[in-house]
Amino acid sequence: MPVPVILDCDPGHDDAFNILLAAAHPSVDLLAITTVAGNQSVDKTTLNARRMCEAAGIRGVPIAAGAAGPLHARPHGGQLIAEKIHGGSGLDGPSWESGPGAGFGDGEPTVPQDPRDALTLLRDTLIRHPAPVTLVPTGPLTNIATLLLAHPRLTDRIERIVLMGGSAERGNTTPAAEFNILCDPEAADIVFGCGVPVTMFGLNATHQVRATPEVIARLTALGTPLSRLCVELLTYFASTYREVYGFDTPPLHDPLTVAHLIDPSLVSLVRAAVRVELTGTWTRGATVVDLDGVTGLPPNAEVGMDVDAAGFWDLIVEAVRVLGGAPNTP
Ligand code: BDR
Ligand code: CA
Repeated sequence: MPVPVILDCDPGHDDAFNILLAAAHPSVDLLAITTVAGNQSVDKTTLNARRMCEAAGIRGVPIAAGAAGPLHARPHGGQLIAEKIHGGSGLDGPSWESGPGAGFGDGEPTVPQDPRDALTLLRDTLIRHPAPVTLVPTGPLTNIATLLLAHPRLTDRIERIVLMGGSAERGNTTPAAEFNILCDPEAADIVFGCGVPVTMFGLNATHQVRATPEVIARLTALGTPLSRLCVELLTYFASTYREVYGFDTPPLHDPLTVAHLIDPSLVSLVRAAVRVELTGTWTRGATVVDLDGVTGLPPNAEVGMDVDAAGFWDLIVEAVRVLGGAPNTP
């Protein structure tokens, strides 16, 4: 039976590929997409989710907009976004209005936005689906924490939470904190403490899946409009990762979540106590991962460690092939 999944995301280049993977693979049943402010404003991340669905021919999956900002105002004010990485649209690279990215998204996508808000769509989907559902958050955890606070009894309807966020090593937005967790540390604290099984793919794992020139060449060879769009996305993503972090190839963080659901052997997991730093002067938003068990705290999460990057990219390339309608080459 396919795994029933709700993606809660902030597309975002890597979130966009996670949508493709979840929609394409037969072992995932993509029930809904909810969006959150993160890489860009929630209006832009919602538009981007619709654009990707339009581009990939993903129809009938409801897309609802969620939180426009974190549970609590940031200590120093202002909204944290990742414009330097994902651009002014949140999904820069393709020319969405015209040019090669078009054919999909000239202006308003025809894939609609659900009239419900994300909280209502999450609630309705959890209640109506016959089996417990896996939540896959790949942005700030505001929507998921809001759901847990508003409907604590619905934890029975959640099979597990498989998220991209944090790190068992260092951060990427401050030396200690990863972007998704730093955007809303209080929300992350609620999620890690909610009692539902949590699997965390942090930077220590996601930095192992780099969009190398070989990956770009494989996508290019598919020769479809969708593969061209994907190459444009990755080319832009590579340029900002080079500029901001000096990486020669960009890590495609978020799809490690769905890749794990498809093939659990792709990433090794360790059980550990994970806490979110809420008060540190320099460490707010850090995920403190007790890999050595020195705190004596019971494990509350599984943490992704070693990744089979080749297996991961096989899944991504196949998803783009299937959705783009390219022939299966032997
Ligand atoms: C995470 O932050 C976002 O920029 C990406 O989409 C990913 O979810 C990586 O730190
Ligand atoms: Ca994301």
